[in-house]
Amino acid sequence: TGKERIAVIGSGNWGSVAAKLVATNALSHENIHDEVRMWVFEETLANGEKLTQVINKNKINVKYLPNVNLGVNVVADPNLENTVKDATMLVFCTPHQFVESICKQLQGKVNPNAKAISLIKGMEVKPDGPVMLSKLITKHLGIDCSVLMGANIANEVAMEQFSEATVGYKADTSIAKSWVQAFATPYFHVAAIKDVEGVELCGTLKNVVAIAAGFVDGLGMGNNTKAAIMRIGLKEMIGFSKLLFPTVSDATFFESCGVADLITTCFGGRNRKVAEAYARNGGKRSFDELEAELLGGQKLQGVLTAGEVFQVLKARNWEKKFPLFATVHKIAIGHLPPSTIVDYDNESAQKL
Ligand code: NAD
Ligand code: 13P
Repeated sequence: TGKERIAVIGSGNWGSVAAKLVATNALSHENIHDEVRMWVFEETLANGEKLTQVINKNKINVKYLPNVNLGVNVVADPNLENTVKDATMLVFCTPHQFVESICKQLQGKVNPNAKAISLIKGMEVKPDGPVMLSKLITKHLGIDCSVLMGANIANEVAMEQFSEATVGYKADTSIAKSWVQAFATPYFHVAAIKDVEGVELCGTLKNVVAIAAGFVDGLGMGNNTKAAIMRIGLKEMIGFSKLLFPTVSDATFFESCGVADLITTCFGGRNRKVAEAYARNGGKRSFDELEAELLGGQKLQGVLTAGEVFQVLKARNWEKKFPLFATVHKIAIGHLPPSTIVDYDNESAQKL
């Protein structure tokens, strides 16, 4: 028919909201096919029902986004290959630790003319260095991959509260326009900029700063301390991004994906919440345990990302340049107490 067909790969808290956003636009735009297929990592709920069956019956993801109607045109599918079969626009939104295995399963199964977008905050570190997930998707599937990041706590976007997001695209403005059309609504404003790496690194690295902000909250420190940690963190985000990709633009950090996402995540995010509990318990209960207890199956990205960033710092001898990133990792693995989140050598911080 020549129409675009959108599939969403992932159905967690944000994945479900992504499906809701594109499903609204699929119905209102003539050039997009109505049906939006959403891949669900199948699970059996406490009452014995399958998650996909419940979603398809009620159009609500009862486990990861309760009480929110996803749209009549969203179809939950437990089969990855079937989800992407006819799709021309692939929206990737799973916790970052699962992406590589998903891409391997999708190899040779996607339309070679399809385009992808990643809403995933995180990266992979390979022996020869870090690989951003958009790059990983392109490498495995041979298709273009943009990114969408922003100050977007999923539950708030689900309630249709006004917010903004940033699409990062490689080169082709017509691709950027298609993604903006697929996601933008009157309450969800989307701007596109030509800086995939910058946008993706903002979304990835702010999760590490959010862990630090959570430690500050758990230690009972006040707003000045949290603002200081966020400032130091933002400086490290900019410094790290530019060292990895000299093309990253300063302006990117002032878009929704940058400072706005940093703020919302440090105040209202899951990384903050679990890190607060970790510090309140003096580091005696592990992140894995607290994540399972506090998030009901949702996944943290910041702790893994801190570990991935630390591997890069070690390999490149950059540990001293990024004291906050390094400290977050050491606290998270129990090598330092949470109180060390505010121990900085004044000189090294100023030199950043
Ligand atoms: P989530 O944290 O709710 O994660 C749970 C999802 O992971 C569920 O769909 C679950 O079925 C799935 N899962 C569990 N084990 C799996 C496995 N082995 N293989 C594949 N899937 C498995 O998910 P989310 O909130 O949609 O997060 C996805 C990405 O979006 C993350 O990178 C996150 O940082 C980003 N993000 C989240 C928010 C938010 O507010 N939730 C906002 C913006 C961006
Ligand atoms: P958390 O994963 O910390 O909840 O952050 C959500 C987010 O990325 C908001 O944009």
